[in-house]
Amino acid sequence: MKPSIMELRSILFVIFIFFSDAVSAIKCLAYFSETADLPCHFINPQNISLDELVVFWQDQHNRVLYELYKGKEKPENVHPMYKGRTSLDQDNWTLRLHNVQIKDRGSYQCYVHRQGPNGLVSIHQKIDNYLLVLANFSQPEISLISNRTENSDNINFTCASTKGYPEPKKMSFVLKTENSTNEYDALMNIFQDNITELYNVSGSLSLPVSPEANVSIFCVLQPTLTQTWLRSQPYNIEAIEMEGEENEQAKQRVENRVPERSDETQCVDNISKTASGDKSATHF
Ligand SMILES: *[C@@H]1O[C@H](CO)[C@@H](O)[C@H](O)[C@H]1NC(C)=O
Ligand SMILES: *[C@@H]1O[C@H](CO)[C@@H](O)[C@H](O)[C@H]1NC(C)=O
Ligand SMILES: *[C@@H]1O[C@H](CO)[C@@H](O)[C@H](O)[C@H]1NC(C)=O
Ligand SMILES: *[C@@H]1O[C@H](CO)[C@@H](O)[C@H](O)[C@H]1NC(C)=O
Ligand SMILES: *[C@@H]1O[C@H](CO)[C@@H](O)[C@H](O)[C@H]1NC(C)=O
Ligand SMILES: *[C@@H]1O[C@H](CO)[C@@H](O)[C@H](O)[C@H]1NC(C)=O
Ligand SMILES: *[C@@H]1O[C@H](CO)[C@@H](O)[C@H](O)[C@H]1NC(C)=O
Ligand SMILES: *[C@@H]1O[C@H](CO)[C@@H](O)[C@H](O)[C@H]1NC(C)=O
Ligand SMILES: *[C@@H]1O[C@H](CO)[C@@H](O)[C@H](O)[C@H]1NC(C)=O
Ligand SMILES: *[C@@H]1O[C@H](CO)[C@@H](O)[C@H](O)[C@H]1NC(C)=O
Repeated sequence: MKPSIMELRSILFVIFIFFSDAVSAIKCLAYFSETADLPCHFINPQNISLDELVVFWQDQHNRVLYELYKGKEKPENVHPMYKGRTSLDQDNWTLRLHNVQIKDRGSYQCYVHRQGPNGLVSIHQKIDNYLLVLANFSQPEISLISNRTENSDNINFTCASTKGYPEPKKMSFVLKTENSTNEYDALMNIFQDNITELYNVSGSLSLPVSPEANVSIFCVLQPTLTQTWLRSQPYNIEAIEMEGEENEQAKQRVENRVPERSDETQCVDNISKTASGDKSATHF
């Protein structure tokens, strides 16, 4: 069962909007714990010798990330939070900031000064670098909190995803039967790690699961910006055969759990992997 063309088209469209939006608004984008490139755009047209140049990068709080003083690195001038995390690509004057943290987001300036007869003279500056830092949320995991009871066909589920940034837009549960697809928004509980600043999110919902139909339930997390929707593995519940007065225990039967974690985090494909006969469009 493939996702419908409409589904795919709207998903791709939204990805495109997010992506072009992000690219036009920012200069540099880096993922948590990876490397960011902070360009200086200095081309040295007069081929001035490094011995005459003083080059340094600063953040928006005037903390120095890196300094090259007349051809020599000056680690003693570097702020502790950047020590050992930078390297200069001298071919294109791009500073590489390694092991990027959420705290590194913000604007950066690069200054080039030349040693003149009367002291240092500014010959170049680049002040509008903005570094946006993202972290991809993990694939959401759906789990059962409570089964049907004697008085209710509702089944309670919880969904959790970890270590993303920034805060996600939305979490929802999708319940599919042979003939229907329903989406239920969940209230998100958001926890932020006070050191890494990464977010964990979870949400719980009580879903009406008819005992007469085979259903497949999964949860979906919609992150902000470039990361596409993340979908959990499906949680499948088979219909209960109605042969007269079945014992109450049968109502509790929950089968065909698919709990293995998959390493894929891009889950836009195969929205309708498990349900059959779906002709309705999901509205997310
Ligand atoms: C600078 O050069 C390095 C490789 O030499 C490249 O990876 C990087 O993307 C370049 N940066 C810019 C801003 O051109
Ligand atoms: C720049 O100067 C260096 C020596 O300082 C020389 O080797 C190099 O050829 C010069 N490059 C250009 C493009 O003039
Ligand atoms: C729900 O019912 C199934 C099957 O009877 C059982 O294996 C599972 O432990 C129950 N789960 C909860 C949370 O009660
Ligand atoms: C987020 O989830 C991770 C992995 O489960 C856990 O180690 C961490 O303590 C959680 N952090 C917060 C702030 O809940
Ligand atoms: C982070 O939170 C933990 C408890 O959640 C607390 O013990 C610790 O002091 C906090 N650290 C900082 C730097 O605020
Ligand atoms: C399921 O969730 C609903 C709503 O949050 C709650 O009222 C109900 O007690 C829960 N059922 C069980 C069996 O925990
Ligand atoms: C789905 O629709 C078909 C045809 O309308 C019907 O026969 C079937 O019982 C429906 N299934 C469920 C689970 O409602
Ligand atoms: C549920 O699925 C099983 C096979 O997985 C099938 O035999 C059964 O007829 C289905 N029941 C309904 C109500 O669709
Ligand atoms: C995060 O997700 C985006 C798109 O969803 C992908 O392009 C990017 O490579 C991922 N980054 C990491 C570090 O996993
Ligand atoms: C979608 O699911 C079908 C059947 O489960 C499978 O054959 C196909 O390879 C899947 N496609 C992708 C892109 O995962």
